[in-house]
Amino acid sequence: MTSTSTGSERTLILVKPDGVRRALVGEIIARVEAKGYVISELKMMSADRSTLEAHYAEHKGKPFYEPLMEFMLSGPMVAMIAEGNRVIEGFRSLAGVTDPTLAAPGTIRGDLARDQGTKVVQNLVHGSDSVESAEREISIFFPKK
Ligand code: RTP
Ligand code: MG
Repeated sequence: MTSTSTGSERTLILVKPDGVRRALVGEIIARVEAKGYVISELKMMSADRSTLEAHYAEHKGKPFYEPLMEFMLSGPMVAMIAEGNRVIEGFRSLAGVTDPTLAAPGTIRGDLARDQGTKVVQNLVHGSDSVESAEREISIFFPKK
């Protein structure tokens, strides 16, 4: 690290099952790459329930928790690690806010998702929201062998 660098960060990005079903994996990866972040790990996977329970532990007990589990188990998804300075907030900005109806045009959710009238909002992507969450989530999806 040079004296002018603030140090690189890592974040966990998931293309959720709706993104895979709608064949938006390439479009989403292209936006991450075009922004200049580096994808250092990438895999297509079907998550099992215990993985998702660990990932979404903070939401256990909320009204949307079971529909969220069902949605995330509804098909394969793509998990990746993206790296770069301030990538955590940078990817959250690329993704847009949680509700795709309110997400700004120009963002992944704002451009590519909408309210489908489902029990849980389907919003194409997940991105970690802090350094602590990123490291916790990366260890769930990409455990060190
Ligand atoms: P994510 O964790 O998936 O990146 O999304 P997020 O930070 O923008 O939103 P979060 O509050 O962490 O919620 C996780 C996912 O649960 C569903 N959700 N539905 N009121 C609702 O209906 C509601 N709130 C959250 C969404 O799928 C959201 O992405
Ligand atoms: Mg979240």
